[in-house]
Amino acid sequence: MKTELIRPIVSLSGPLELPGDKSISHRYAMLAALADGTSELRNFAAARDCHSTLGCLKSLGADVKVEGTTVKITGHGLHGLKSSWRALDAENSGTTIRLLSGILSGQEFSTKITGDASLQKRPMKRVIAPLRQMGAEIRAKDDNFPPLEIHGGKLRAIHYEMPMASAQVKSAVLLAGLYAEGITEVAEPAKTRDHTELALEEFGALIKKRGRTVAIHGMASKNGHAALRPKSLDVPGDLSSAVFFIAAASMLPESNLYIANVGLNPTRSAILDFFQQMGASVSVLHLQSKQGELIGDISVKGSPLKGGFISGDLVPLLIDELPMLAALGPYTEQGIEIRDAQELRVKESDRIAALAGNLKRMGAKVEERPDGLRVEGRGAGQLRGAEIDPRGDHRIAMAFAVAGLGASSETLILDADCAGVSFPAFFAELRRLSASGNQ
Ligand code: S3P
Repeated sequence: MKTELIRPIVSLSGPLELPGDKSISHRYAMLAALADGTSELRNFAAARDCHSTLGCLKSLGADVKVEGTTVKITGHGLHGLKSSWRALDAENSGTTIRLLSGILSGQEFSTKITGDASLQKRPMKRVIAPLRQMGAEIRAKDDNFPPLEIHGGKLRAIHYEMPMASAQVKSAVLLAGLYAEGITEVAEPAKTRDHTELALEEFGALIKKRGRTVAIHGMASKNGHAALRPKSLDVPGDLSSAVFFIAAASMLPESNLYIANVGLNPTRSAILDFFQQMGASVSVLHLQSKQGELIGDISVKGSPLKGGFISGDLVPLLIDELPMLAALGPYTEQGIEIRDAQELRVKESDRIAALAGNLKRMGAKVEERPDGLRVEGRGAGQLRGAEIDPRGDHRIAMAFAVAGLGASSETLILDADCAGVSFPAFFAELRRLSASGNQ
C-alpha cells in the first residue's frame, strides 16, 4: 500500500493541464465501440475507471488501441459486439457498470458484469428497474448488487420518471433506448450532467430535450439500417480533477495557478460559480465550444473564502466536488454545510462517514448527518496533520491531500494509489506545483 506524505506549504503556483474528463471518456469509448468504423479519441482520460471501460469493450470484441493518450476504437455497428466468455470487470467504476448495463440490455446475448469489493456494495436496482421495464432480463445479488447477469434482446421504448437525480441512470436508459423500437424518454427530478446526450448527438443519434426530459429515437428497429458514425474527438481536461487544485490555490494566499483546456459543461461548472460566491479569485478565459462541450482556461489566485451551503438541486451539479468542499470547510470563514446529499453514502465509499471521520482526525469540528454534514470554519482552529484512511476512495484521498497543505503539521495519506481511479498523476502534479511555489 503506497502512502503519500503531505507537508504544509504556503502557495500553489504554475501552469497545469489535466488528463481528459472521466465522464466524457467513458461515453466516447462506449459509443465508438457501437459505431461503424474507427474513432480516434485524443486526450483520453488517464483515469483507471476509463481503462476499466476499455477492458470491458475489448472483452466484448471491440478493437481498442491505446497509443499514449490517444485511443483508437473500431466498432462494427450497434449489433457488432460479441458475447464475452468471461465476466466483464468494471473494477471500481460505477459509470462503467451502469452505462454498460444499458448497452448490454440491447444485445442478443447474455453477459455477466461485476467489479471490485467497493462496486459490489453499490446499488444497481436503480438501473435494473428501468431496464427490466424495457424488456431486459437481469439477475443481481439480492436483486440489487453486482455481479449482474444481463440477458438482453428486443427492447421496448419507455417513458421513465427517474426517482433520483443520477446521470448514470439517465445514461443507462438512453443507451438502452438506442436499441428500443420507438422513442425512449427519461425525466429527471433535477438536472444532472448531460454528456451522454451530447455524445449521442455527436455520434449521430437523434436526441430531443424538453425541460428535464430527454428523448432518444431508437436506431436498431427492424428495418432500420441507421448506424452511429465513427468520430475523431478531443476530450477536454477533467474539471472534477481541476477542482482539487482550484481549492488548494484558493486557500493558500500567495497562489497563482493557470489551468488550460478544462471542460466547462454548464452541468458541471456550478462549482466555479460556487467558488466565486465564496469569494475565491477564479476566472474563466478563452471559453469556446467544441463538439457540443464548452472548454476554457481557469485562472486561480489565493483569496479568503467565506464558506457556503449546498442543498437541493445544487447537489447533483456538485456531486463529485462535495468531498473537496467539505474538506475545505475549516479553511473558510463560516464553514461548509451540505444537505440533501444522501447519495454520497453510496459512492466509491460512504463519503459522508469518510469525510467526517478524517476531518475529525485533523481536529475539525464536524456534525455528521444522514444526508450530509456541517464543517465549522476557521473559528474552530487550524487543522493539524493526521493519518488519513481514504477508504479506497480516490476523491477522499485527494481532498485530504489538499486539506493537509494548510495544516499545522504533516499529513500521511494511506493507500494513496487509489487516486489513480480518476487521476493517476495527482500527487506528482501536486508536488510539481508546490515546488514552484515558495515551499
Ligand atoms: C457520473 C455521474 C455521477 C458521478 C460519477 C460520474 C457519470 O454519478 O458521481 O462520478 O459519469 O455519469 P450519479 O449519476 O450516480 O450521481
